Amino acid sequence: MKFNLNGKAVSASAEPDTPLLWVIRDEIGLTGTKFGCGMALCGACTVHLDGQPVRSCQTPLSAVLGKRVATVESLSPDNSHPLQTAWIKHDVPQCGYCQSGQLMSAAALLAHNKNPSDVDIDEAMSGNICRCGTYPRVKAAIKDAAIMMRKG
Ligand code: FES
Ligand code: FES
Repeated sequence: MKFNLNGKAVSASAEPDTPLLWVIRDEIGLTGTKFGCGMALCGACTVHLDGQPVRSCQTPLSAVLGKRVATVESLSPDNSHPLQTAWIKHDVPQCGYCQSGQLMSAAALLAHNKNPSDVDIDEAMSGNICRCGTYPRVKAAIKDAAIMMRKG
């Protein structure tokens, strides 16, 4: 099965019903995307599918055939994406486990909303659970990243 991963054509040999999460992590070896609940409840496995955030634990490989998938590794090679800069500035992560999913939901939000309100952020991030309770810092970092992106 062929699809585009982080801007490159890739081919996966897993069965069509294999969750995309395992293809990304085990077959392709990109481990930034995390397994949390496995039931589309926690958001730890969030990636983009044709620009939309999806839960890769519940997305079969067959659903991404010929499409564009982006993982947290696509944000930048050197932590220079505005979201990553803001995440570092606000010292967002605690254990860090949920954070790549948080970043990918935030990236999808900012891709189509350059000036999100508190409500916009709450809505976009509501499916990303953080057992460490980093939500206030996540929100502050998203606002900061939005300012950086508007300034260009
Ligand atoms: S691991 Fe996919 S939503 Fe929790
Ligand atoms: S930083 Fe620990 S789960 Fe979010």
